[in-house]
Amino acid sequence: MREEIINTKNTALAQIMDAVAEEELERLRIEYLGRNGKINNLLSRIKELDPSERKNLGSLINESKKTIEDAIKQRINEFTSKSISGSEWFDLSIPGILPRIGNLHAQTKVLTKILDIFSFLGYRIADGPEIEKDYYNFEILNFPKDHPARDAQQTMFFDTTGTKNKPGELIPRTHTSAMQGRIMEKTKPPFRVVVPGRCFRYEQVDASHGVDFWQVEGFAVDEDIRFTDLLGTIDFVLRELFGQGVKIRFATTFFPFVEPGVDTYISCTACNGKGCGFCKRSGWSEVMPAGMIHPNVLNACKIDSEKWRGFAFAIGLSRAVCLKYQIDDIRILYNPDIRILKQY
Ligand code: DAH
Repeated sequence: MREEIINTKNTALAQIMDAVAEEELERLRIEYLGRNGKINNLLSRIKELDPSERKNLGSLINESKKTIEDAIKQRINEFTSKSISGSEWFDLSIPGILPRIGNLHAQTKVLTKILDIFSFLGYRIADGPEIEKDYYNFEILNFPKDHPARDAQQTMFFDTTGTKNKPGELIPRTHTSAMQGRIMEKTKPPFRVVVPGRCFRYEQVDASHGVDFWQVEGFAVDEDIRFTDLLGTIDFVLRELFGQGVKIRFATTFFPFVEPGVDTYISCTACNGKGCGFCKRSGWSEVMPAGMIHPNVLNACKIDSEKWRGFAFAIGLSRAVCLKYQIDDIRILYNPDIRILKQY
């Protein structure tokens, strides 16, 4: 009988542990501890035993009964405390935990705005490779090999040892103007296109220079495009971007792929042109070089320069972002800290 008592207790404990609902525990309580339950049944058989065994086995049954009772109580507690704690902790009035959400980068915001302005003016948006052939970056743009105008582009070069490429054949592009040739070669005029993208130059990194920066190149080719169309386009775009009150100044300059070429300056957005630390006391900032596309470039792209004319321009995007938000160090644009990004 000793074995039977121990087995009964162990089976009861196993069933109690496996119970998944309170009702099941109640059922087990009746099955084992009820008036006609298994424990009482064992107790009633005590008197059939040899008197020498009665005491020991009697107390074994009582211990088992106690163990089963305790186990049932403990499991019932578990069920009730779960449902109590559920209702205690689920307080609808407690404010939730705000998930940390990101923020568009200042440059993404300004770029989107620029592309919106050009879409409004009927420009198509194109994308091109950051690693470019010397041919598109320079040659087709009227920069012959060894021409001193290449010096201004501070080109970086790849180590081509052990590759099939000749040194200098492929380069990290120095400007998005490199897309002029790629697009003009394949597209029949008239067209208007803008090309945003990342460019690379061998620069000493400081507050206003980085080894990589963004430009938005743009160009339009049509039958009767004039220099004043270019100036009007620049004027419209810069006022849309920096506000109608911004002052704009043009100065002639040289780029091999345009003739004439202009540099466009806007009055400093921080001091309104008076001169401050942000504009290095000049009151002006150069944002948009431009010009009429050189006939050599049109001809190299198989566009008849007797029939078609065009203008081209580039917005220095990183510079424009700094001017728009009065950021006095371009390196801030490369810092991914969300506390910085959230300010713009
Ligand atoms: N690609 C020139 C540079 O990065 C900028 C530029 C000047 C682009 C005049 C143009 C332009 O389209 O007409 O230095």
